[in-house]
Amino acid sequence: MNWLYRNEAVGLAHSKLILVGEHVVVYDKPAIAIPFPLKIIAKITNQPGEITFTSDLYHGNLNDMPANMQGLLECINRAFELCQKPREGVHIEVTSNIPIGRGLGSSAASATALVRGIYHYFHKDLSLEELFHLVGLAETYAHGKPSGIDMMAVASDAPIYYRKTIGASLFHVSKPFHIIVADTGKVGDTKKAVNHVREMKLRNPHVVDQIIDEIEEIVRKAKASILEGDTKQLGILLTRNHEKLKNLGVSDPFLDRLITSALNAGALGAKLTGGGMGGCIIALAKQKEHAVNVAKELKKCGAKKVWCFSNASEEIYFTE
Ligand code: MEV
Repeated sequence: MNWLYRNEAVGLAHSKLILVGEHVVVYDKPAIAIPFPLKIIAKITNQPGEITFTSDLYHGNLNDMPANMQGLLECINRAFELCQKPREGVHIEVTSNIPIGRGLGSSAASATALVRGIYHYFHKDLSLEELFHLVGLAETYAHGKPSGIDMMAVASDAPIYYRKTIGASLFHVSKPFHIIVADTGKVGDTKKAVNHVREMKLRNPHVVDQIIDEIEEIVRKAKASILEGDTKQLGILLTRNHEKLKNLGVSDPFLDRLITSALNAGALGAKLTGGGMGGCIIALAKQKEHAVNVAKELKKCGAKKVWCFSNASEEIYFTE
């Protein structure tokens, strides 16, 4: 019955950036995320025998995946189950230009691309509920108790305003803005950072609750700034959000140095993005040429990699 399958199918997903609200989103506060056009592709190819898997992280039989990939394994196994297909007869190849563990949503994006690829291969329609159920399995393994924003953001082609108990709503960006992403090169640990905030909240509930409320206010104002096209105000809010994240203890000296360097280069605002404790920063530029200048300064300051893009197009117009 091989005619029921394709010879080859692909699933795609993109990266994401949290603009404001990471960490507080875990406590059912809002956050804003936008698509970031780094891509991951999962290719499913017909191949008799046991399922084999190739990616930057692992090459071999699917069932022998290392412990840190067990969430992905569970997600793939369940996808086959929901497609009502035996777990055999394919090779899975994952290629990605999303750096791993940098707060850019690589784990959610790989699970999303894989699920899309598997469903495509078996000619099966994929509902959003099924997609989020499956990606949620991988994410729970990777991050403990994720808010769900990463998987929503990597599956959305538009900016989202997200709350854990309400879900994601798409919203319109009235004026394009220019963002620089700079990678410290240091792998962050989202699970560790989330646990750190949780423990701090247990120790100092009043202090942490107040910071959470302040970030909530920043997120609401940031949404209004985006809707009004007020980039200057948005920049101020990004930097303010970073100060609060610093107070929560999830920044680190290199992230802070990159942020100072972006601000010294005239960025409208800058902050860490994602879980922190390593990973990436984002900075907001006045326009395209300015973004490239800020990116070059960040590179001089030691960023391992920089990207500039505008939310108005799918294109990364500068990278180094
Ligand atoms: C990670 O990209 C975002 C965090 O808020 C964790 C989560 O929402 O699950 C740090």
